[in-house]
Amino acid sequence: MCGIIGYVGPKQATPLLIEGLRRMEYRGYDSAGVALYDGEALETRRAAGKIVRLESVLAADPVDGMIGIGHTRWATHGPPTERNAHPHLSADGTVAVVHNGIIENASTLRGALRELGYEFRSDTDTEVISHLVQELYDGSLEEAVIHALRKIEGTYGIAVMSSRDPDKIVAARKGSPLLIGVGDGENFLASDASAILAHTRQVVYLDDGDVAVIERDGYRVIDINAIPQPRVVDRIDWDLAEIERGGYAHFMLKEIFEQPQAIENTMRGRLILEDGTAKLGGINLSHEQLLGIDNIIITACGTSWHSALIGELMIEELARIPVEVEYASEFRYRNPIVTDRTLCIVMSQSGETADTLAAMREAKRRGARTLGLVNVVGSTIAREDDGGVYLHAGPEIGVASTKAFTSQVVALALFTLKLARKRDLSVQRGREIAQALHELPAMIQRVLDDAPKVERLATEFAQTSNFLYLGRGYNFPAALEGALKLKEISYIHAEGYPAAEMKHGPIALIDEKMPVVFIAPHDSVFDKVVSNIQEVKARSGKTIVITSRDEPALEGLVDFEIRIPETVDMLMPILASVPLQLLAYYIAVQRGAHVDQPRNLAKSVTVE
Ligand code: F6R
Repeated sequence: MCGIIGYVGPKQATPLLIEGLRRMEYRGYDSAGVALYDGEALETRRAAGKIVRLESVLAADPVDGMIGIGHTRWATHGPPTERNAHPHLSADGTVAVVHNGIIENASTLRGALRELGYEFRSDTDTEVISHLVQELYDGSLEEAVIHALRKIEGTYGIAVMSSRDPDKIVAARKGSPLLIGVGDGENFLASDASAILAHTRQVVYLDDGDVAVIERDGYRVIDINAIPQPRVVDRIDWDLAEIERGGYAHFMLKEIFEQPQAIENTMRGRLILEDGTAKLGGINLSHEQLLGIDNIIITACGTSWHSALIGELMIEELARIPVEVEYASEFRYRNPIVTDRTLCIVMSQSGETADTLAAMREAKRRGARTLGLVNVVGSTIAREDDGGVYLHAGPEIGVASTKAFTSQVVALALFTLKLARKRDLSVQRGREIAQALHELPAMIQRVLDDAPKVERLATEFAQTSNFLYLGRGYNFPAALEGALKLKEISYIHAEGYPAAEMKHGPIALIDEKMPVVFIAPHDSVFDKVVSNIQEVKARSGKTIVITSRDEPALEGLVDFEIRIPETVDMLMPILASVPLQLLAYYIAVQRGAHVDQPRNLAKSVTVE
C-alpha cells in the first residue's frame, strides 16, 4: 500500500525520491508525487498512474532541491487523480504533507477549517493535515505538527515539510510504519526499508506515538509531548540483490524459484534431526507454558490464512491441541473465547497487515499469549508480539505471496514438532517428519525443474474464464491457495473447494469448458479423491491432476498430469503449491497481465 520517502542532504533530492518510490512500487499504488524545497518555496509535482508518468511531469518541469518528500498513493478517499495525489500543500503553499493511513475525523476537521476560511482542493483526508499545520505554525515545524496530531484521530505515517522551517522533515507514526535511514551527512525517511537500502543499511524504526525531526546532520525522536525517545539504530542484513529481479522476468518468478533457499533459511539452525524436534529461540514460551496451552487460535489474512489452515491440521494431528483458524478481520469484531491459556499465533508476511495487527492486539487484550510468524524483520507485529519466529524467507516483492507461503508452512511445521514432542509425539515419528523437512528443499527444486512443462500446460488455459481447484485433507488449503494465486494475477475466476464438497453445489458448473485442478498425491485420502475425479470426468470436465506416482486408478481420468515427489502428508501441500504458483504465473504472463503489481492489490494492506 502507500509508500513514503524523504531525503535531506547534499545531493539533488529528485532522483533519490524517484528511486525510493520505484523500490516501493511493488506495494501497489495508483498515483505518485514529490515535494521539494527549492531554496525559496515548496514545489510539488504529481501524476495519476505509474511513476513513469510522474517522471514525465518532472522532465517537462524539473525541480531542484536538496530536501524533499515523495509518496505513492493507493486510493482510499477519492479517486486516483492528480489532484488527490500526495503531497498536499496547505492553503498558502508553505506546508507539504504526505500521509499513509486514514484520518477518521477528517470531515469534522474539514468543517472547522472551512469556517476559518480554508478551501479544499482534493477529496483526501490528508489535506486537512497540511491546513492544520499551517494554521498552528508558530515558529517551529515540529511543534505545529505535534499540535496538529493532537487534533487528529485515526492512523498515520506522515512526512511534513515547510518553507518557513525549510531544513527539516518532520515525521510521525501511529499505526503506519516509518523508519529513518541514517546516512553520513544525509538522512532518509521511508515507510519501507527497501526504499533506502541502496544508500544506507542503518535504520531507526519508529514506534507508534513517535515524532521524528530529520535534518541533514542528524535526527531526533520525540513523543507527542516533545519528550526525547531513545531509539536504537538497527542494521538491515539483506542485500540490494535480494530486492532486484536478478535476470528473472518478474519478482514473482524469482521468488517461486527462490523457495528451496527460502525454506532452507527458515529451517537453518532450528531443525534437530536426531531428536525429531525444533529449536525456536524467539518463542518466549517456557516448557511449562508450552504444556499449559489449552487451545490455539491462528489468525491471518489471504495467503497467510491458507498456511494457517495447514498449521491447524498439523497441530491437531500431532500435538493434539484444539486449533481454530480465524480471518483476522472477523476475529476482531466478534466475541471469541480466549483465556490466559490460549496461544494466539499471528501469521503475516509483512507484519503490517492492519486487520492482523488489530486481531493480535485484541487477543492480547483478552489475555492470550501471542506468537508472531512474520517475515519482515522489525515490522509492527514482530515488535508487538510476545514471542516470534521469523520466516527468514528474504524480501518478498511480488504482490502475490509465494515463498512466504511455503516458508510459513515450514515454520508452522517446526513449531508443531516442538509442541508435539513436548506432548505425545514419539521420537521416531518426530525424526521422520524432521527428515522430511530436511529433504524438502531438494524436492522443491525437482518440482521447479519441471517448470517448462507447466508453462506448456498454461498455454492450453490462457483464455479460460473459470477454474476449480479441489483437494482434501492437507491439500484443501493448497487448493484454496492455488485458486487465489490464479485470480489475483490473471483475473480468471477460480475457486478452491474440498474435493468431496463439489457434489454439494459446484458440480453444477462442470462442463467441457471447465478445467478442474485436482491435488491428488498418493496420500491417505487418495482413493477418495479418485472418486471425485471420476465425477468430474463423467460430466466432461477437463482434469489437471497433480499426483505423485503412476496410479492405475487414474487411468483414463487425467487430461493433464503434473508430477510431484512424495513426502509425509503434512508437507505435501508445500510441494503441490509450487506447480500451482507456476501455473498461475505462466497463465498471467500469457494473458499479458501485470504479474508483480496486479490491479487493485497492495503488497501490505495497512488499512482496515
Ligand atoms: C496473496 C497475498 C495476500 C496476503 C494478505 C496478508 O498472494 O499476498 O492475500 O497474503 O494480504 O498479508 P500478510 O501476510 O503480509 O499479512
